[in-house]
Amino acid sequence: MIDPELGGDIVELGMVRSVEVSEGGDVRVVVALTIAGCPLRAQLERDVRGVVGTIPGVRSVDLSTGQMDADQRAALMARARRKALEHPPATAVPPRARVLAVASGKGGVGKSSVVVNLAAALARRGLTVGVLDADIGGFSVPRLLGMEGRLEARDGKMVPLERRVGDGVLRVLSMGFLAEEDRAVMWRGLLLNRAVQQFLQDAHWGDLDYLLVDLPPGTGDVQMGLARMVPRTEMLVVTTPPLAAQRVAARAADMARRGYLRVAGVVENMSDFTCEHGKTYSLFGSGGGERLAAGLGVPLVGKIPLHGDMAAAGDAGEPVALGRGELADVFTDLARAVAEEIAPLLEASGCTARLLDAVAVAVDGAFAGPDQARATPVGADVER
Ligand SMILES: Nc1ncnc2c1ncn2[C@@H]1O[C@H](COP(=O)(O)OP(=O)(O)O)[C@@H](O)[C@H]1O
Ligand SMILES: [Mg+2]
Repeated sequence: MIDPELGGDIVELGMVRSVEVSEGGDVRVVVALTIAGCPLRAQLERDVRGVVGTIPGVRSVDLSTGQMDADQRAALMARARRKALEHPPATAVPPRARVLAVASGKGGVGKSSVVVNLAAALARRGLTVGVLDADIGGFSVPRLLGMEGRLEARDGKMVPLERRVGDGVLRVLSMGFLAEEDRAVMWRGLLLNRAVQQFLQDAHWGDLDYLLVDLPPGTGDVQMGLARMVPRTEMLVVTTPPLAAQRVAARAADMARRGYLRVAGVVENMSDFTCEHGKTYSLFGSGGGERLAAGLGVPLVGKIPLHGDMAAAGDAGEPVALGRGELADVFTDLARAVAEEIAPLLEASGCTARLLDAVAVAVDGAFAGPDQARATPVGADVER
């Protein structure tokens, strides 16, 4: 029996806690769910009853469900991802794109602000940058980028909305670009977990250099789904200076790590505030980013100061990274660190890259069948 969300066999994934069979053929099954309010619970229950109930000799099926704790969930995620690495599903994200998921332990730390400004600063370098707003319930990317409009479909696939930035371009998919009615359908149909999958699979991303994913806060289904669908995804963890925030962020990072999403680095947001007289205040304490990075054994990629312009720019829909001045410079530096040190592109024009692309397509073709030739490469993941 296949878990509808994780795509793996529920026995192999370790979700079946116990199976008891009485002499008369009464079967008791206990299945552990990832979360109590698992939206696909009804489907799982139906499937289990269906599968077990039709086995010859079975008189009745008594199914109860339990809930996994954090450790069990992490272990499950690790197993699911190992399986995914063996057979990654086809996505529309081009093999050569570097996929960076931006995560935080809790909301309000400026995760989305970091996503849009880093994306803008990368685009300013002349790159093509996809932005996938995976914070389905709390999307804010359209507002922060000053983009509005409705998604259109071409050949049955969504076309991201574009914003040109110098020689570069941003390509954005967000729930905010769906009409109210369509969003309601997604909510009603419990298709929420599928939304991100659709953004990855049924979209014309085209040729991307980077894909930045604005994850919802915490450690939930979306993270697990992403790890399964694009196992080469790397994480940037956004945290704020205080120790408490750092602990929460560390939990998110740890969870991702045990699910084998590599953590590429930490970004500290709302760092020191410098007033107009040049005096610097550590309003929220200091050192959180450094401590988290050290604890995770990854670089602290950048520190974004607490600055009133960040909020103002967010409201105006014009990222600070596209302006001039100190804040813009901070994001220029962040983009440089990402593009040159943390997640450099494979040399795009050289023979090696083309060869790798060809190999990736051929390998995926062999895995996925001829109709899914444009799939995620397996090679890129195996080499880590
Ligand atoms: N460095 C910063 N300085 C000042 N305000 C910031 C900074 N970063 C984010 N903000 C503001 O904090 C609020 C939350 O930011 P947001 O990016 O939406 O957080 P998240 O996505 O983590 O929930 C927004 O109003 C945003 O403008
Ligand atoms: Mg957000």
